[in-house]
Amino acid sequence: MITTSVKASKEYVIHTGSGLLASSGKIIREACPKATKLLIVSETNVAKRYLADVKTSAEEAGFEVHDYIFKAGEQSKSINTIAGMWSVMAKAGFTRTDVVAGLGGGVTTDMAGFAAATFLRGIDVVQIPTSLLAMVDAAVGGKTGIDLPEGKNQVGAFWQPSAVIEDTDCLLTLPDEVFSEGMAEVIKYAFIMDVPLYDLLNKNAGNGIGIKNDVALMERIAGMCVADKADVIMSDEFDNGRRQTLNFGHTVGHVIERNSNFSKPHGVCVASGMGIIADAAVAAGTLPGEEAEKMKSLIRAYGLPVDDEITSDEAVDGAMNDKKKRGDTLSVIVVNKIGTSKIVKMSPDEFHEFLRGALK
Ligand code: GLY
Repeated sequence: MITTSVKASKEYVIHTGSGLLASSGKIIREACPKATKLLIVSETNVAKRYLADVKTSAEEAGFEVHDYIFKAGEQSKSINTIAGMWSVMAKAGFTRTDVVAGLGGGVTTDMAGFAAATFLRGIDVVQIPTSLLAMVDAAVGGKTGIDLPEGKNQVGAFWQPSAVIEDTDCLLTLPDEVFSEGMAEVIKYAFIMDVPLYDLLNKNAGNGIGIKNDVALMERIAGMCVADKADVIMSDEFDNGRRQTLNFGHTVGHVIERNSNFSKPHGVCVASGMGIIADAAVAAGTLPGEEAEKMKSLIRAYGLPVDDEITSDEAVDGAMNDKKKRGDTLSVIVVNKIGTSKIVKMSPDEFHEFLRGALK
């Protein structure tokens, strides 16, 4: 097992390793010693597979356990689902020392975190991510929230968890396409800040998404990503600077995702976004062509695309409506060498010109 400590507005430990669901109750107990009641938030598919294990472990650790299971899918990420969680906690008499656990992928951990951030003005949350994407990104760092009809993640709060429990055995049962989209976020860390991770992913690229079945390797890879994210969170918890580098590929990726009416998975769109930004940086003369080819060949090796049919007009229009823009300027994350990244402020016209190096 790998443990990673985060010291932000809350101090907590991220536990990454095989078989951890069985000791989830004990870990929650250690993180929240005063809690008596626990609400496990999960969705239909994940609950079928893992709820009983977490419930048993929590009961053995002395918790009075309640659960709230919502219908799997992004459509559930709404205020109505959160209201359902508040209501279960209110009826069961939860107090400020009780705790919520989010068991599932990013939709679940975002909502469990938001329900915890808002109930009684804030109670503890422990995140138990079961997808690769949630393990390396969504469940770490305290971004919580819900969607509005007007856009994804439009309402939310920064609310750090009290612990994160990542059982890497859960990766074994992930459908290939879900594993692959998590690999986009893994690859992102390699490109923006982690040459040893790039080397490890490159060394194993021949196995492609077959690496899913190598439990020891996946524990190592997830642990490296978690350490990267923890490092970023500790230097910029509230997303005013360095944390924005985690959005490499996301500015264009989010537009691709929205334009597909969310039929294209987030990680797939991020992969396309990274490939497009790499091509644009080559055209701008800031990234050597051979470095971009190394990046795109790694993305492809893990079953992901490096381009999209989006036009530069569509990408700029969409990016200007994204919540991540500040004023009329866009913060574009650019990699000019594998393992380093920088934030480049661009006006819409400059971004358009930049993207025309890669898109029609
Ligand atoms: N998902 C990017 C972040 O946590 O900042």
